[in-house]
Amino acid sequence: SASDKGGWSSFMAKEITENPDAVANTVRGRVVDGLVEVPELTELGDDVLNGINRIILVACGTASYAGMVGAYAIEQWARIPVEVQLSHEFRYRDPVITPETLIISISQSGETMDTLMAVKYAREQGARTISVCNTQGATIPRESDAVVYTHAGPEVAVASTKAFVAQITALYLIGLHIARSKNTVDEKELRRLAADLQALPAKVTKVLETGEKISQLAKWMSDTPSVLFLGRHVGYPIALEGALKLKELAYIHAEGFAAGELKHGPIALIDHGQPVFVIVPSPRGSALIHSKVVSNIQEIRARGARVIAIAEQGDAAVLPYADEVIQIPLADPMFEPILAVVPLQIFAMELADAKGLDVDQPRNLAKSVTVE
Ligand code: AGP
Repeated sequence: SASDKGGWSSFMAKEITENPDAVANTVRGRVVDGLVEVPELTELGDDVLNGINRIILVACGTASYAGMVGAYAIEQWARIPVEVQLSHEFRYRDPVITPETLIISISQSGETMDTLMAVKYAREQGARTISVCNTQGATIPRESDAVVYTHAGPEVAVASTKAFVAQITALYLIGLHIARSKNTVDEKELRRLAADLQALPAKVTKVLETGEKISQLAKWMSDTPSVLFLGRHVGYPIALEGALKLKELAYIHAEGFAAGELKHGPIALIDHGQPVFVIVPSPRGSALIHSKVVSNIQEIRARGARVIAIAEQGDAAVLPYADEVIQIPLADPMFEPILAVVPLQIFAMELADAKGLDVDQPRNLAKSVTVE
């Protein structure tokens, strides 16, 4: 009913505004004296954690994109090889699993059958299992050795929004906890990252202010047959997520690419008027990667693309080439996905709305997929 939506036009609209709380509530209680400490992981035992030599993140859909972001972070901080596998692929590929393998499943509902089967299989093979889940007492956490709950609150809209940013947040926390335990990041840097993580919710609130501009863009583009999304490093999974949101809500063909792949094929798609969202990495992360993405923007612009850049405030390099720039506040470059995804969530919702579609209940989809 309208009252459950608290005056919002849809659950999705409401849940997007809850993004800042989802991050804040997931971090809450997990930073102690300025350092990340996840009690649920302490229970697992430091010796177990420190002995892990391979991490596989398993999930489906949007949760798998959260996993991809988490993989960059955990691998960089904890110096453990991390990969992401779709649950339904993982389960049937005869994966190499040992007692030193850690499986981290990610599921909002905790009931996704594909992911549940992957976790059960991994356990049978002797792996340690951690569940990142948004639903207390759900099946996947019950089948896992430990659970790190995301505290996004109940998510009703079929399209995942606040649960996604909470999942990414939980994976940052896990990465920083292991890094601390293994001593792979020095304490000063651990403190800086923890403080930056705690500062994120207020920045997400800032990004919500771009909603009006995005809504306008969505209205202009409501008859577009296709939208492309480009990103690099942690921006790459965000490109994939932007495309998935548009497919599921607006029924528009959309595709996300790693920006470096452009010249290996996708650039042939660029024709006059093709809308392309580009998630521009922070120049403060890698100046080299940033300049490469700016070159990508020039290349597609020269071929007629209509470029909408999502870039950090003060990034003047993109201004001459982009048709539109959506600015996001400065954060540690690893944390940018949490900010960059918000305009893409709003864009998909507004475009679906402009087409007169039901944003909470898109056709052919269920909130949780409990069949294999
Ligand atoms: C997200 O917008 C989708 N509806 C879908 O990809 C979802 O994230 C996926 O089915 C996984 O669900 P879960 O997190 O409940 O396991």
